[in-house]
Amino acid sequence: MTEVEYVALMGVALVTGASTGIGKATAIRLSREPGTELVLVARREELLRELAESLPCRATCLAVDLTYDDAPQRVRAHLEAEHGGSLHLLVNNAGAAWRGSFAEGGAANVQRHMELNFDAVVRLTEALLPLLRASAPSAIVNVASTAGRVSRARTGAYSASKFALIGWNDSLYAEEKAEGVHVGMVLPGFVRTEGFPATELREKALTRWVVSEPEKVAEAIYGCGPGGKAERYVPRPYALAAIARILLPRLTRRVLSGGAASSLTTSTGGQGPASG
Ligand SMILES: NC(=O)c1ccc[n+]([C@@H]2O[C@H](COP(=O)([O-])OP(=O)(O)OC[C@H]3O[C@@H](n4cnc5c(N)ncnc54)[C@H](OP(=O)(O)O)[C@@H]3O)[C@@H](O)[C@H]2O)c1
Repeated sequence: MTEVEYVALMGVALVTGASTGIGKATAIRLSREPGTELVLVARREELLRELAESLPCRATCLAVDLTYDDAPQRVRAHLEAEHGGSLHLLVNNAGAAWRGSFAEGGAANVQRHMELNFDAVVRLTEALLPLLRASAPSAIVNVASTAGRVSRARTGAYSASKFALIGWNDSLYAEEKAEGVHVGMVLPGFVRTEGFPATELREKALTRWVVSEPEKVAEAIYGCGPGGKAERYVPRPYALAAIARILLPRLTRRVLSGGAASSLTTSTGGQGPASG
């Protein structure tokens, strides 16, 4: 399927985690495409409403905690009631990180990350896949992370959830191709947002340049959804970290367990923290 066909068929697009950061930037980016109707999903209704009112296209809001058991059915019911059950683009973006070593956070911290960054994505996609298939050609974009390719100290639980997401994403890509549902994935590096402020990196001239902006990720999400691309790192050079992990595992391990690597583990918005 060519990019032109996808763009021409841009219709109902649902963005999770649309109240701030990358999700908000994505909603703004998508709203510029002719024919777009947006569905904004996150927990903070007021932020969603403010955003919806500022957009140039029709946008409806659903305030829901995606980790709740009934969340997928509530989202589906909203699409059926407000958008005739159509869904051309699903952006699985909502996510968070809580930093801590395994000795500190234990299995509970791993579970907390999995519930939001993996289980909630899988459950929502299961509920919406019939609508995406019926609306095909359509697309899903999963927002993973470079941390889903390379793991650092104190980010193990977050990385585990994103590694899981990437494995599942690649399989879904192969399975849904024949159904006309394109599955794309975006892997951001450090991006300045509410949940991932990257303050430590932005404070130093030496590291400031590694921090990117949500609008750049939004453009990549557009490219991996309506644009039909399979995968994008943002910024692109972060792909080198993933390549090094496979081709130079000893060197990568040495660098990531050395003292300099601690400067790459930034505080996050989640309590008790993690990193992008
Ligand atoms: N920024 C980075 O450096 C970076 C790097 C790699 C990957 N990522 C990924 O990018 C995605 C977006 O993150 P961001 O950087 O834009 O952070 P953000 O500004 O903190 O946005 C996270 C979004 O997820 C929503 N959310 C959190 N928990 C939720 C829940 N239980 N139910 C429903 N919505 C929930 C939040 O809204 P409410 O609080 O209103 O619910 C918010 O809209 C995440 O998947 C993250 O892992 C970010």
